Amino acid sequence: MKRRQRASEEQDRRRHVYYGGDYNPEQWPRETWREDVALMREAGVNLVNVGIFSWSRIQPAEGEFDFAWLDEVLELLHEGGIGVNLATGTASPPPWAVHAYPEILPRDANGSVLGPGARQHFAPSSATYRRLATELVTALAARYADHPAVKMWHVDNELGCHLHHDYSEHAASAFRRWLRERYGSIDALNAAWGTAFWSQIYTDFEQILPPRLATYVINPAQVLDFKRYSSDALLSLFTLQRDIIRAAGATQAVTTNFMGAFPPADYWRWAQEMDVIADDSYPDPNDAESFRGAALARDLMRSLKPGTPWILMEQATNAVNWRETNAPKAPGQMAALSMQAVAHGADGIQFFQWRQSRRGVEKFHSAMVPQAGLDTRVWRDVVALGETLHSLPEESPLSHARIAIVFDWHSWWALEAGSHPVRLPYAEIVQRWYSALHRLHHSIDFVPPSGELAGYDVVLAPSLYLLDDAGAAKLNAFVEAGGTMLMTAYSDVVDEHDAFRDGGFLVTQRAALGVRLEEFGALVPPAASGASLSAGESEGTASATGPGENAAPFAWGAAPAGSGAGALPAGAGLGQYLAETIHPEGAEVLGRFTSGRLAGAPALTRHGHGAGIAYYVATVPDDAGMGALLGSVLAAAGIEAEVEAPEEVEFARRGATRTVINHGAAPAVVRVRDTGAEIRLDPFAWERWTVQA
Ligand code: GLA
Repeated sequence: MKRRQRASEEQDRRRHVYYGGDYNPEQWPRETWREDVALMREAGVNLVNVGIFSWSRIQPAEGEFDFAWLDEVLELLHEGGIGVNLATGTASPPPWAVHAYPEILPRDANGSVLGPGARQHFAPSSATYRRLATELVTALAARYADHPAVKMWHVDNELGCHLHHDYSEHAASAFRRWLRERYGSIDALNAAWGTAFWSQIYTDFEQILPPRLATYVINPAQVLDFKRYSSDALLSLFTLQRDIIRAAGATQAVTTNFMGAFPPADYWRWAQEMDVIADDSYPDPNDAESFRGAALARDLMRSLKPGTPWILMEQATNAVNWRETNAPKAPGQMAALSMQAVAHGADGIQFFQWRQSRRGVEKFHSAMVPQAGLDTRVWRDVVALGETLHSLPEESPLSHARIAIVFDWHSWWALEAGSHPVRLPYAEIVQRWYSALHRLHHSIDFVPPSGELAGYDVVLAPSLYLLDDAGAAKLNAFVEAGGTMLMTAYSDVVDEHDAFRDGGFLVTQRAALGVRLEEFGALVPPAASGASLSAGESEGTASATGPGENAAPFAWGAAPAGSGAGALPAGAGLGQYLAETIHPEGAEVLGRFTSGRLAGAPALTRHGHGAGIAYYVATVPDDAGMGALLGSVLAAAGIEAEVEAPEEVEFARRGATRTVINHGAAPAVVRVRDTGAEIRLDPFAWERWTVQA
């Protein structure tokens, strides 16, 4: 017991940043475990995620548990002062379970069974799977709820990663139950789904099926609800297990690992059930811009639980194994991406995995202890990163950004379902708006449509196609109270059931925007047109007018005389995807389309509403256009970046801490506006400083 105490004291001293990774001791002989603990201590590891894929080792047969090895592992770790994030092990049902209960296997939309051999081969709504998982988690929680090594609980693993939509009979029954609860009566469901269209009127919930393979496009409201149900079905696996852990008396935080802006799961809803947010992140070293995708995910994770630091639960020390080409990280890149997570609010930096596997699918995946041994760049970097993290001072409380982007899974799902004037890649468009702000070195929060907007100066609502009444009211109230909103094309098109509202389009924001929308004006999408255009090339583009039009140039500030352009710094962009026909109803026209079928028509408007301002841009600008437009709007709102730096340099605020990181291949110079200080950063170097609150 004395040893135990000493070890936990040591761990507590290093507690403000968790450092470690997934530890899979079941893949290794016992002798390796002691060496593992010694090496973990050398690297400064203080938290490992144990047992994620241990089900078949813990439970060799139904009703039979073998905890002796896990007891030993936990004891060894505890003696070494290393905390455990204990996994529930439910992510990969053992062969005996599939053999005895093949009905637990999921089915795809064609009705084909997805067999075992990989992982996540379970139907989330299968009562048998849920019973087996309950038995496993109950036994684990009873045994380890008050084990001193256990600092946290890790439910399942990346829920929905491979199996996000199950179309089995289990799913069909659960979907019907979910719909009964949501609608109460079949008449309400018929009204919401618009089943009068194409003779789809249901007379009983029993007639409803998941959107399986069909002759043509399936009712978009049905597809949307199935996506909502599927997110909830996965979430119910989390809450089922969390409740078992709690019932066993465990008081540690319970989490599961997210996957950034993961399409199938509404993490706004999930976050409410979790004690701490954890994320897995694998930016591609071959993609020079992937750090911006990682930055978005990190800001989203912080925003999911405002004010609460999150944990980067998985990343790779070096290459992964699952892309077509798995490039190694550049020297310094692992530390730079880790510091990026800290700068965006993480209080834990972890990896998949501790020791590189010798066998199996992931044997080429890098790890903290490489197969090539300890005389390696990776191991030296792992040790150095541990030292860096433990030398960081305690962070000040997380702060609020001045700019927020509305991000909504329901809009995303609805944009993917059914048919639209043009297929809008929602996540990509949000990423591009985010990246444009990020290049300008602004800090950004994300908010759900019905989230708290008070406290932000500027709210950006990019292509918020589906806007429910609660979200619509929040946006209206935000502008009325003095906020600046920038709403972009194809927003506020439908209600929560993917149905048009009375009164056309843009109905809920019409008064705030002072704009009426007549027509969406689809353009040939950039990918299909094969053209990657920049604003400068726009005028000469052959397809800029008439059929096949793929881009709609627009400009503001220097717009034609009589346009009523106000004091907005001038700029130009190339509209993509849509060039909407809008009619000002009180809004000033700040910018117009400059060629094509809408030449001379309004493209950018501004409207004073209540104490605030609402902008509308009637197209999806190209990257340069987004940057220019945001630059103008933020300048008008009085928001200035704190640093001047090249685009490859990232700036992040965390409480009183400021971090700059050079993600580029060349050295860069950063100028801090407030103090005039100049910071030189080599590739992948970073620097932090604090400011007075
Ligand atoms: C995911 C999983 C891990 C591992 C890594 C590989 O994040 O959670 O188990 O498969 O991917 O990159």
